[in-house]
Amino acid sequence: MTPERVFRHHMIKEIFEQPRALEATIAPRVSLDKGSIRLEECRLIDEEIRRLHRINIIASGTSRHAGMAGQFMIQDLASIPVDVDYASEFEYRNPLIGPCELAILITQSGETADTTGALREAKKKGSKTIAISNVVGSTIAREADGVLYTRAGKETSIASTKAFTAQMAMLYLFALYNAQARATLHDEQLRAHIRQLLELPGKLERVLESAAHSEELAKRYHGVEDFLFLGRAVHYPVAMDGALKLKEVSYVHAEGYPTGETKHGPNALIDEKLPIVIIMTCDRKDPGSLLRYKKSLNNLKGFKNQGGHVIALATEGDEKVSRLADHTIFIPQAEELISPILEIVPLQLFAYYMAVHRGLDVDRPRNLTKSVTVE
Ligand code: AGP
Repeated sequence: MTPERVFRHHMIKEIFEQPRALEATIAPRVSLDKGSIRLEECRLIDEEIRRLHRINIIASGTSRHAGMAGQFMIQDLASIPVDVDYASEFEYRNPLIGPCELAILITQSGETADTTGALREAKKKGSKTIAISNVVGSTIAREADGVLYTRAGKETSIASTKAFTAQMAMLYLFALYNAQARATLHDEQLRAHIRQLLELPGKLERVLESAAHSEELAKRYHGVEDFLFLGRAVHYPVAMDGALKLKEVSYVHAEGYPTGETKHGPNALIDEKLPIVIIMTCDRKDPGSLLRYKKSLNNLKGFKNQGGHVIALATEGDEKVSRLADHTIFIPQAEELISPILEIVPLQLFAYYMAVHRGLDVDRPRNLTKSVTVE
């Protein structure tokens, strides 16, 4: 029997638990033989799915970033329009929702006050509600009409890591479940997506094998006080979460931005003092992904011409990126909508090692609590 690995902090332990968390969340809900997804727990019948006009995803912090990735998954795979809201802002915009809309509340703890408030608001307006939660029997799980549990196991560190990747996997499953009911994918396409999901834990193990690379980068950059994280389309939420992790555990100022927006302002900041982390993986079989990748390649050239220091996340074997960037972290090849689940992992590791090298209390960052139960 292989001895259990001993970890110094909950955060790093939880990062390494992600392959198991994904497997537990995905495997019981898919059948590759039948080419089908089972999510009856959400208590949404096919007829209701077909009648949906819009989905509102509402959440806070990292859970909202999962929702932003989910927006791409649900729209692309099931052709349902999706809006994403900050739970803390939801009721202020007087959301025009009713029985033809579905509200999805994403929350690791199931106890976040802002998200509970948004759930009650959505119910008051007559929307059907579903919770995606990691805690069985939590307030939001009990109050929502249906619940989908992520099975990441208890998350102790204040920084959310394994719950985030499990939430994205759940949203991908939910997108496929809706696609199945609305017949927006044919059987072979559905099977191919299920196969991608089942391959995720193994690919994530491979990403974890290069943890030492993230640690080297943290050693090199731990004195730096500002970072810019960039990504396009479904990679933008990953940039946002990479920046959030760095802020919360390392107390380093980091901004997440859509890559294409840099020329509308942030470019003025880019010089040799502001490192840029850019996510530019590419699914070469997908023309849209290839197009976005080419645009990001031009951005990367521009940043280098401005003297910028670039850490790039690229698909394994991409020498074009590794020749241009100062450092390249390679991610296994995956379909574009699923790749955020892999891309966030080196960024979680980077934030963790930055905090360690800065001598900080990684699991209990100052001024934060695991579950924000006050508004
Ligand atoms: C993430 O690392 C944070 N600690 C925080 O943003 C968290 O995701 C947010 O407070 C929402 O919590 P919840 O998922 O339990 O609702």
